[in-house]
Amino acid sequence: MTSDRVIDLLRKAYSDEIETVMNYQTNAIVLDGVRAEEIKESLKQDIQEELGHAEQIGQRLKQLDARPPGSAEFTARQDSLQPPEDSTDVLSVIRGVLDAEEDAIETYRSLVDAAEEAGDPVTEDLAVTVLADEEAHRTEFRGFEKEYRDE
Ligand SMILES: [Fe+2]
Ligand SMILES: [Fe+2]
Repeated sequence: MTSDRVIDLLRKAYSDEIETVMNYQTNAIVLDGVRAEEIKESLKQDIQEELGHAEQIGQRLKQLDARPPGSAEFTARQDSLQPPEDSTDVLSVIRGVLDAEEDAIETYRSLVDAAEEAGDPVTEDLAVTVLADEEAHRTEFRGFEKEYRDE
């Protein structure tokens, strides 16, 4: 058995992954210009990873006799990741991605702690694995931010 807190965090993580997929996909389409190409490619790769996270989190909820939320329960939260007015404003997208990754890192850290407390090592292990992916995404986009800020 696991705790309600673990279930709540898994459901939040699932919603966030789906919102991330939506915004990465939109930005990968909207951005224009030669300088945006690398960012768009990176976003496209990450979309597949974030979708994989949602799948794993959703399956874990099912194993715990819960279920992932559908769209009626969804609340959008990624204000800073909305496609920029100026489609060449790559830095705005990079900063939005960093906000999303920071938020994911915080959620998975909380999930690691909550699962440990609940004596649920399987969820804890999953949260650690996904946390490592999110930290890698953050590192990649911190590199992009540095590059674009210095130009
Ligand atoms: Fe993710
Ligand atoms: Fe990520």
